[in-house]
Amino acid sequence: MARLDKKETQLISSFSLFSGEVAQELVNTYGSPLYVYNGDRLRETIERITKAISYPHTQFRFASVTNGNIALLKIFRSFGWGLHANTPGDIYLGLQAGFDPSEIVYSGSNLNRDEMLQVLNWGVTTLNLDSLAQLQLCCEVFANRISSLLPLCSSAPLPPCHFLRLGLRLNLPEITGDSRIGVRPEEFADAIALTHNFGLKLSGLHFYRGTGTNATTAFTQVIDTLIATAQLLPDWEYLDFGGGFGYPYHHNKTAFDWEIFGAELTERIRRLGRKIDLVIEPGRSAIAGCATLLAQVVSIKWQGEKQIIGVDTTVANLSVPSVHGGYREIITWKQADNPFTTDICGNTTYSRDYLGKNCQLPALEIGDIVAILDVGAYGYAMSSHFLHRPKPAEVLLENGTHRLIRQREDYSVLLTNQMLDN
Ligand SMILES: Cc1ncc(COP(=O)(O)O)c(C=O)c1O
Repeated sequence: MARLDKKETQLISSFSLFSGEVAQELVNTYGSPLYVYNGDRLRETIERITKAISYPHTQFRFASVTNGNIALLKIFRSFGWGLHANTPGDIYLGLQAGFDPSEIVYSGSNLNRDEMLQVLNWGVTTLNLDSLAQLQLCCEVFANRISSLLPLCSSAPLPPCHFLRLGLRLNLPEITGDSRIGVRPEEFADAIALTHNFGLKLSGLHFYRGTGTNATTAFTQVIDTLIATAQLLPDWEYLDFGGGFGYPYHHNKTAFDWEIFGAELTERIRRLGRKIDLVIEPGRSAIAGCATLLAQVVSIKWQGEKQIIGVDTTVANLSVPSVHGGYREIITWKQADNPFTTDICGNTTYSRDYLGKNCQLPALEIGDIVAILDVGAYGYAMSSHFLHRPKPAEVLLENGTHRLIRQREDYSVLLTNQMLDN
């Protein structure tokens, strides 16, 4: 762990997480390209989201699909958050980060029988299923598992594994649009009968708005419908409001408003007059703004008035803007009066290898650092070995110190699992 002097206070905007001097120090220490997380910003964000929902029976579950770094997951855990798992891999990482299985909610899709068994064997007890077929599979695997365990614990009471909190992911075309995910209310009766056949009950309704929704009303307008729909389940005990809460990548545009959402949701649930558990699974909104990808300029050319900058990173390190769409602001700490229209190009010839197009940046020089902002969510998590470039390192900056939280890969990673002697 290395200590910073006071340089981190010289920010060029509230969205740059550290100063140019700090960026240089980090690149000198850890190399480039480099994912840098600001732990102080992350803690502030978690606190703000937590405070925004005053309903007392609220369980926050961080959606680790956005970022699976163990050091960061531990920060969420330190605030009493649990984990939302989209896949068994999310659960595996969550357990490594120290989450208790009871703090992990699985709300994913299309597990095969072995995976379903693995999830239950890990001790996860809250599962929001995406189809009647997945519900049936879950109940079957659960029942088989119990009958195989019972002889081992013949005297009552049953072991904790007898408990399961089952929910349905909701598909309501008037709200969720043309979505493949979820179960329609007209299927609820069959779902209830199915679970009762196994001596289980359906106690949860799960809703997912769709990722990156910045209109707060898109959430507040559906609260009453969700509560009414949940009451079609006779054993209803919890509402999982999922994720999808937006983040303002265009810093001058409207952002999802946690305070308005939290106040309205709390009020409507209170009006119900009975206790239910509320589960919230923020992903992007909690972590997007807490990270920056640093890269260095390796090539410059001019096409008329346009600056074509080559950097030492690639869309395989950050696939969101170019491959999957979306905007990420790119800054440099260089001072200049007149910016130029600039394309920031990755270090391959892949036709989509642009980190940013038509950015407004000063004339750059070889070795300058550029910073791609707001890459905490779906950044490293969506990086790949496409183009055969090893992945960057990850560094955590907090409380005036910095430390490595994931090593830079080397070329040997490209041989992983290959059968070299064949
Ligand atoms: C069920 C569920 N909850 C939460 C999330 C996190 O979404 P976001 O990052 O948009 O908040 C996802 C993302 O896939 C999801 O499928």
